[in-house]
Parts: sequence; C-alpha cells; structure tokens
Amino acid sequence: ALERTFSIVKPDAVAKNLVGAIYQRFEAAGLRLVAAKMLHLSQEQAEGFYAEHKERPFFNALVSFMTSGPVMVQVLEGEDAVRKNREIMGATNPKEALAGTLRADYADSIDENAVHGSDAVESAAREIAYFFTDAELCPRTR
Ligand code: CMP
Repeated sequence: ALERTFSIVKPDAVAKNLVGAIYQRFEAAGLRLVAAKMLHLSQEQAEGFYAEHKERPFFNALVSFMTSGPVMVQVLEGEDAVRKNREIMGATNPKEALAGTLRADYADSIDENAVHGSDAVESAAREIAYFFTDAELCPRTR
C-alpha cells in the first residue's frame, strides 16, 4: 500500500555531512520526500519523542545524543514505505546491520546509529504529527 513513514537523520550523520548521501538512498529506493526540515531538538522535544523508552537504561544517553546537534526530520512516501525505509536503514545495532544498509555504512554504535525510522504505520502517523502540521506535508502528484 502507499504509505508514509517518519525519518530522522541523527546528529552524528548530520555532523559527518551525510545528509545528501542518506537522502540519495531514500530517493534511489523510490521513496519520495513529502516534508523535511532541520531542527536542533530541545530536551523536552527529544524526551517526548522517545517517551516509550523512558524506563530503558539508555534513555538519558539517547536524549543527550539526540540534542547534541541538529537533525533532519523528514516524511517519506511510497509503496510499502515503512518496511522499505527499515530495510534501507538496517538493524538498530550497526554490528548486526546488513552490508549496504545506512547503519552498516554510516553508524558508529547502537547509540549513534545515523538514522531513525518508524517501525509501523501507526507509529509513523504519531511521529509525523509530532514534528509536522498537515499543511507542511506536500502531496506528490507528479
Ligand atoms: P531509534 O530507532 O532512534 O530508537 C531508540 C534508539 O535508542 C535507537 O534507535 C538506538 O539508537 C538507541 N538505543 C540504544 N541502546 C539501545 C538498545 N539496547 N535497544 C534499542 N535501542 C537502543
């Protein structure tokens, strides 16, 4: 089905000048950008976005990392977009990520792993709404 998914280029990848290389992977796979912006997340924004991980031991390190520098947040649209984006990203832990995936190529550790992507259509809708208004989403008609 035609889906939308939410994606973040994390502070490590922005710092390494990998925004264009990562967008290239999305576009080469047939995913279309329908919204994008650069943000430096506040502690409140990062804590709210990752609220489901609040009780995990890595929560404080995750929030600290995600607020350490600017990120790119984007909405990707395409056939089977949620699964396709997860395939492009590779496993959360770069040591487990398949060759040729973003995490295998660009991530240094499970904590600094270059990209985030929604894990399901339902979480995608919630994550998109967390960062974008409906008016910021640009339907692709050609
Ligand atoms: P992300 O998809 O952004 O969602 C939560 C992040 O927590 C995850 O990517 C990882 O970068 C980070 N993280 C650190 N340790 C773990 C862990 N043990 N399991 C899952 N995520 C972890």
